[in-house]
Amino acid sequence: MAAAGFFFSVTALVILIQLATNLNSCLAATPVHRSGRRSTQFIRTSCRTTLHPNLCFTTFARYATRVRGSSRSLATTALSLAFNTTHFTTKSIISLSKRHGLKRREAAALRDCVEQLGDSVNELKYSITKLSPATAGSRDFRRQMSDIQTWVSAALTNEDTCMDGLSGKSINRNLKTGVRRRVVKVAHLTSFALAFVNRYAAAATHK
Ligand SMILES: *[C@@H]1O[C@H](CO)[C@@H](O)[C@H](O)[C@H]1NC(C)=O
Repeated sequence: MAAAGFFFSVTALVILIQLATNLNSCLAATPVHRSGRRSTQFIRTSCRTTLHPNLCFTTFARYATRVRGSSRSLATTALSLAFNTTHFTTKSIISLSKRHGLKRREAAALRDCVEQLGDSVNELKYSITKLSPATAGSRDFRRQMSDIQTWVSAALTNEDTCMDGLSGKSINRNLKTGVRRRVVKVAHLTSFALAFVNRYAAAATHK
């Protein structure tokens, strides 16, 4: 009788320990999972205001945990991604422009693009440095945000100008397509950055 009682209580203890362990891992997993889902939902909602919501979401979903539902962090991340990509693209167009066998018009159009994109790189860099010390609610905040909006819009215009320069009939079609594909990507990323900067500015000034 006593042995049976002992056996049952050992069994009960083992079951309890197992339950507790399972419960523990559930409890540990739930908040991370939930906040991850919230962060992802924040990206999805923010992307709805952009011109290409699906592309935006697939681009930024991987930054969800880094952004953590902060509109400022999303703006900074988007600027950083636009900056990195524009920088990389400029370098790749520089090497294209040095290729042998380009017609004079083609080389000139590529050089113009390099110049335009180089300006974009600088404008995006200024925007990143300007956004980091900007504090929502500070007296300078509105002016800083408006400067950033101006720069990022200018970057977008430069990217358009680059593509316009490639539209002439004298430009080889493969060259045109290759450069356009790269610059369109840069332009999308810049437009996402602008949308998120606008969102952050609006959210922070209406608080
Ligand atoms: C941009 O590049 C820097 C340096 O390589 C990197 O630390 C940063 O995470 C990149 N930004 C994004 C948004 O990927």
